Amino acid sequence: MQTLTSRPATGLQGTLTVPGDKSISHRGLMLGAISMGQTTLTNFLPADDCLSTLTALQQLGIDINRDDTTVTIQGRGLHGLTASAQPLDMGNAGTATRLMAGLLAGQTFDSTLVGDASLSQRPMARVQQPLATMGAEIDLTDGHLPMHIHGRSLMAADHYPLQVASAQVKSALILAAIQAPTASTIIEKLPTRDHTERLLNAFGGDVQTAADGRTITIQPQPKLQGQAVTVPGDMSSAAFFMTAASIVPGSNIRLTQVGLNPTRTGLLNVLQRMGGDVTVTSAKSVGEPLGTVTVKAASLNPIDLGAEDIPAVIDELPLVALLAATADGVSHITGAEELRFKETDRIATIVTELQKLGVAITEQPDGFTIDGRGDWQLQTPVFDSHGDHRIGMMMAVAALRLTETTTLADEAAINISYPRFFTDLQHLLPTEVRNA
Ligand code: S3P
Repeated sequence: MQTLTSRPATGLQGTLTVPGDKSISHRGLMLGAISMGQTTLTNFLPADDCLSTLTALQQLGIDINRDDTTVTIQGRGLHGLTASAQPLDMGNAGTATRLMAGLLAGQTFDSTLVGDASLSQRPMARVQQPLATMGAEIDLTDGHLPMHIHGRSLMAADHYPLQVASAQVKSALILAAIQAPTASTIIEKLPTRDHTERLLNAFGGDVQTAADGRTITIQPQPKLQGQAVTVPGDMSSAAFFMTAASIVPGSNIRLTQVGLNPTRTGLLNVLQRMGGDVTVTSAKSVGEPLGTVTVKAASLNPIDLGAEDIPAVIDELPLVALLAATADGVSHITGAEELRFKETDRIATIVTELQKLGVAITEQPDGFTIDGRGDWQLQTPVFDSHGDHRIGMMMAVAALRLTETTTLADEAAINISYPRFFTDLQHLLPTEVRNA
């Protein structure tokens, strides 16, 4: 049980550099493994999810060394992975599982993927079915893990239309497509984060997105070469402090080296649309764009988000709910049914936890409606991550608005993406409230 910091008199102040991006850390490891020669990842995220990927790749015969946030991978090429004697334990990591499914489907050996209780309830047919159209043979257990992958020669995907707006599914198909004999084309439902495409091209692959933003063509059998990659700060981690600074009076913070890939900056747009006080300065970068984000406290207006808005803010929707809970009016979030398939059913867990603050939030099948006009009336001072890192951190941010002392159960879930979260939060608090 973690005691949460209540309202700091001066708000949040200071400058912070958040840890490396989770999505890019996973992909950097995988692409390093299937390239020839050495890859170095700097500012790698040493959180539980990414460490699951790292260990799985070691089990597949890849020599990987990690010194804190620097990782060195001795890549063995597209056909250099070897069978693991043991099942690959993907822990809590949905991204790692789905991307690995695509990567392992085209190998010459079989693999078995298992995960923790939460991951074992998440849908895997969303990768099994599209990969099957490329000739992959993947056995699931009632649509879930354990997953047994029979390594097979794959066929190209021929204008395959993705059924869900999911970067994980898209990336699984891309990682399968590079193993096919001819070029593949896949069509996204809506544009989603494009880290796989960018990184594959940086390693020497050829993945092109058409002007429609949704049609992706993947050239087969690329000769990938190891690279030196600096992982930008994770926008999804910065988002917790952007939200905290917006809703805690008196705040003024700077977040440096934050990844600003346009497929990930939905929360910046949301804050701007809500009347938040946000300034973005782009920095020089190679590959993924990055920059500095300055956020000051502001009075917020309500917002309406629909399906088209969701992919760029998918992991920040708990924070959008929290922002809306302080806004002067009613916000409507719709088209977000994908939230039900995250580490928890996030529509349910967001509603449960925000109701503990007395927030007027109503669950909808595909989102929620929030009236931010009433004062919060704390109903219960014990919050719960429900084993979901982003729900735990959202409630730690919410606590910063309260004058009462509150606690968080199952706080260890935060290690999934942000082991340093409470230390970084303390860094932005005035000395007298640190280590509260
Ligand atoms: C991710 C894609 C998103 C996101 C997840 C990371 C990725 O999931 O929610 O945290 O790295 O590709 P979906 O693709 O299932 O939407």
